[in-house]
Amino acid sequence: MPLLDNPFSLTGRSAVVTGAGSGIGRGIALVLASQGATVWIADVNDAGAAETVEDIRGRGWSAESASLDVTDPTASHALADLIADAHGSLDIWVNNAGITADSAPSVVSDEELARIWTVNFLGVVHGSQAAAKKMVSQERKGVIVNITTGGVDRAIDGIAAYTSSKAAAHQYSRSLALELGPNGVRVNTVAAGWVESGITRRHFAGSAERDRHLQTQVDRTPLGFVGDEYDQGYAVLYLVSDAARFVTGAVMRPNGGTSMQW
Ligand SMILES: NC(=O)c1ccc[n+]([C@@H]2O[C@H](COP(=O)([O-])OP(=O)(O)OC[C@H]3O[C@@H](n4cnc5c(N)ncnc54)[C@H](O)[C@@H]3O)[C@@H](O)[C@H]2O)c1
Repeated sequence: MPLLDNPFSLTGRSAVVTGAGSGIGRGIALVLASQGATVWIADVNDAGAAETVEDIRGRGWSAESASLDVTDPTASHALADLIADAHGSLDIWVNNAGITADSAPSVVSDEELARIWTVNFLGVVHGSQAAAKKMVSQERKGVIVNITTGGVDRAIDGIAAYTSSKAAAHQYSRSLALELGPNGVRVNTVAAGWVESGITRRHFAGSAERDRHLQTQVDRTPLGFVGDEYDQGYAVLYLVSDAARFVTGAVMRPNGGTSMQW
């Protein structure tokens, strides 16, 4: 392989980012679009998706809006078909959509587990299957990135349905990387660090816990600050780029080093 001129360029690539109508997904979409990808903003929140599209286009980059509920497998397949037809190839699929709720492990209900797991785990499965079906059969092989959480490395108090669903997505990604590697399709995971976003704002709404939690995050990182949605986006950019052509089944942890400390 010769030295690449511009290994992070995504010019001519198509990308899907689920849950890109807000927070980390919006950050990822902006970063991928900044490097030349045409990004499909796939969210149940049509208004949020429209804002992301407007932001990207306002900067002179390329984005399309796609109403998508990741809990519906047929919808993910339909989106993959649409992009392959419209663009000629489906190059990048980022499973980022996610939800959470307070649920102590000893009392979490079946209903809550089902609701959270359907989005956070089955949503990843549906997106990955839809993407894989296109990517293995096209000439330019694609790449899938799944967004989990640094919470899979440690216990987090009181959000059992969330962390368990993310841990499942984490393992699913690695086993998919094994399956798809021989077809040239790479699958990687970003175990995101703490970011102020829709999820965290809702979690801490009206509670003094937010400031305490933020300070804990700052204290834990040797870098002394918490990252933002673009820090997660740049990690995704590396993984989807040609610079990472030899990287699959990996877990990146953009968290300022919080997870390495006892
Ligand atoms: N914010 C953090 O600190 C943090 C840390 C680690 C991991 N994460 C993960 O990052 C991802 C993005 O979360 P965020 O923090 O940006 O929260 P967010 O609430 O700002 O964004 C989540 C987006 O997902 C969309 N969504 C929810 N259900 C959906 C569905 N069924 N189909 C399609 N879209 C759906 C929402 O409409 C929203 O736009 C999630 O997977 C989350 O678990 C977040």
